Amino acid sequence: MQNNAIGIFDSGIGGLTVAHALKEKLPKESILYFGDTKHLPYGEKSDDAIQNFSLNISKFLLEKKCKAIVIACNSASSVAFQKVKELSGNIPVFNVIDPVINKISENNKKCKIGVIGTKATIQSGIYKRKILEKSPRYSVTSLATPLLAPMIEEGFINEEISKTIIHNYLSSSKLKGIEKLILACTHYPLIQNEIKFFYNNNIDVIDSVNIVSQSIYDELKNSKLLNNISNPKYRFYVSNFTKSFENSARFFFQENLKLEEVNI
Ligand code: DGL
Repeated sequence: MQNNAIGIFDSGIGGLTVAHALKEKLPKESILYFGDTKHLPYGEKSDDAIQNFSLNISKFLLEKKCKAIVIACNSASSVAFQKVKELSGNIPVFNVIDPVINKISENNKKCKIGVIGTKATIQSGIYKRKILEKSPRYSVTSLATPLLAPMIEEGFINEEISKTIIHNYLSSSKLKGIEKLILACTHYPLIQNEIKFFYNNNIDVIDSVNIVSQSIYDELKNSKLLNNISNPKYRFYVSNFTKSFENSARFFFQENLKLEEVNI
């Protein structure tokens, strides 16, 4: 079991940022990635729909004998984590929210934190609730930024159009005076430089991927589930073939990888 792949999913390319960080942190591990390109963006869907997509993908990952499931999507982590955990029994399930909350609560100085994410994530209120539970001295302000994930999925990064949209969202009065900004969507590390540029590098931009991969490493190690042979394999599945997904997967992994389309 410990040498089986880690299953990771997202609606599209965002989770590749997590998969890539995991590959760097855990180079011996095999990864089986599922991008639900047929149903993206998740952030615009109802909780019920996101839960159904997440459960169907998790069943697929369990059939493929994955030893752990990583929900590399904040929208699904917000509304489907419990359901996926119930489905998965003894197989560990990771979300991308708790490790970030744990990390920022290590320091409990008064601080104004901004959170940006999809509508599903922000409407769930999960960041604000969990942060304040652990760190009542923080104040939290959240803003849904629904155009960002589709923009990134379409490859608009470091372009005039992305600059304009990012500027428009981050200028919102809701985010005025923040000292930290949590990127609560796994697509956003891909525009992290543009976000830092907006703030002239004056605030702390928290990108979850390294925090999440460290916590997965710690937990797999504690549960004695780390791979003990070094022969990693990377497999990529999508629910609908898209060129942009293929390009991103090749960028993060290897040039010659093949996508497999599955109908779930
Ligand atoms: N990357 C995902 C997230 O972290 C989903 C974006 C979307 O499909 O709306 O929320």
